[in-house]
Amino acid sequence: MTEGTGAPPRLDADRLLDDPRTRIIVCCGSGGVGKTTTAAALGLRAAERGRHVVVLTVDPARRLAQSMGLSSLDNTPRPVPLPDAPGGGALHAMMLDMKRTFDEIVEAHADPDRAEQILANPFYQSLSSSFAGTQEYMAMEKLGQLRRTDQWDLIVVDTPPSRSALDFLDAPQRLSRFLDGRLIKLLTAPTRASGRAYLKVVNAGFGVFTGIVTKIIGAQVLRDVQTFVAAFDTMFGGFRERAEDTYRLLQTPGTAFVVVATPEPDALREASYFVERLSEDRMPLAGLILNRVHRSPAARLSAARSLAAAEALLPAGAENAQSAGANGGGVPLAEGTKYPLAVAALRLHAERMQLIAAERRLAQRFTAAHPGVPVARVTAQPEDVHDLAALRVIGEALSHD
Ligand SMILES: Nc1ncnc2c1ncn2[C@@H]1O[C@H](COP(=O)(O)OP(=O)(O)OP(=O)(O)O)[C@@H](O)[C@H]1O
Ligand SMILES: [Mg+2]
Repeated sequence: MTEGTGAPPRLDADRLLDDPRTRIIVCCGSGGVGKTTTAAALGLRAAERGRHVVVLTVDPARRLAQSMGLSSLDNTPRPVPLPDAPGGGALHAMMLDMKRTFDEIVEAHADPDRAEQILANPFYQSLSSSFAGTQEYMAMEKLGQLRRTDQWDLIVVDTPPSRSALDFLDAPQRLSRFLDGRLIKLLTAPTRASGRAYLKVVNAGFGVFTGIVTKIIGAQVLRDVQTFVAAFDTMFGGFRERAEDTYRLLQTPGTAFVVVATPEPDALREASYFVERLSEDRMPLAGLILNRVHRSPAARLSAARSLAAAEALLPAGAENAQSAGANGGGVPLAEGTKYPLAVAALRLHAERMQLIAAERRLAQRFTAAHPGVPVARVTAQPEDVHDLAALRVIGEALSHD
């Protein structure tokens, strides 16, 4: 089989996992491509190869969470029993609880009275549970916390289900831009400015503005925002500093980003953007994981030959009678042949081979744009991946393509 001269280098997951210098692996990618699955599979494999690992998952499918012993969000790493892990090898897993993580930051950085005031504030409550980007920011915050405890020699991080993989990297800035932004400044002008400065602000017309805003969003909400930001102001520096620290941590050689994508145009386009962004930000990329790749056990039988064989089994004149069939679309049932199953199987095979060819072209396009990026392929499994045995199969595929 000709792979062409432009075959990418292979991403060797075992080498990455076995290297003691690898301290953090971040699994990124667009929505639904297999980030959580990959993070869990890499963590499990690393633990079973002797490393002391924690996996930080975000929103795992329920059955996958259960298989790792996680029944509810509790924001604490729990041990996953692994009887076959060699000495020193251990796996802990946790699910990110973004609200709890936010609350803990407030509790750790404000005095108890002020913390209570913030936590009870309705504006804080909606910010901490629903602001776009909070989940990404909190994943990064949690990563920083886990790293500071120095309890694990490898941290594998899953990233939140966002449309764009870039959201993870943009979140800290977005959150601080929001808290620092013009809207918040305007809304909180009366509490920030005092005395003559306040009078000036009022004279400049902000009183009128606040009045209008009060009418629109309600006096209570405005007061909530104002007290929240006033109380939060003291913690501001800390927030930003920690986000910057974690961002810098992501730039160190101990970190490895793996970009996960399915062999589909949108997912690979996102992966391309992400790879470019990592290089702009000087963040270390380990490679691309091409997940849910299709294969065929009879790859030597081409689509064209398979279709020709199917036609040969049809009665003369029926070659073009490919009506949609009565089987609800997909491969049409062959009519008038003595070998309907064989014809259907050959046509299915041809479809599969065409899909494989299309996936290969997309992968080649990615590699042509990013020739140095190592790639590992993981075959699409017949079922969802929701137990340790299935995760082991993925881990194996990542290491021995
Ligand atoms: N190689 C594979 N073969 C078959 N199914 C897979 C494979 N990889 C992942 N899946 C399944 O695809 C679904 C999505 O995977 P996963 O939850 O890991 O994606 P994700 O990128 O984390 O999604 P989200 O962006 O929603 O967080 C899951 O049901 C998972 O079991
Ligand atoms: Mg996920």
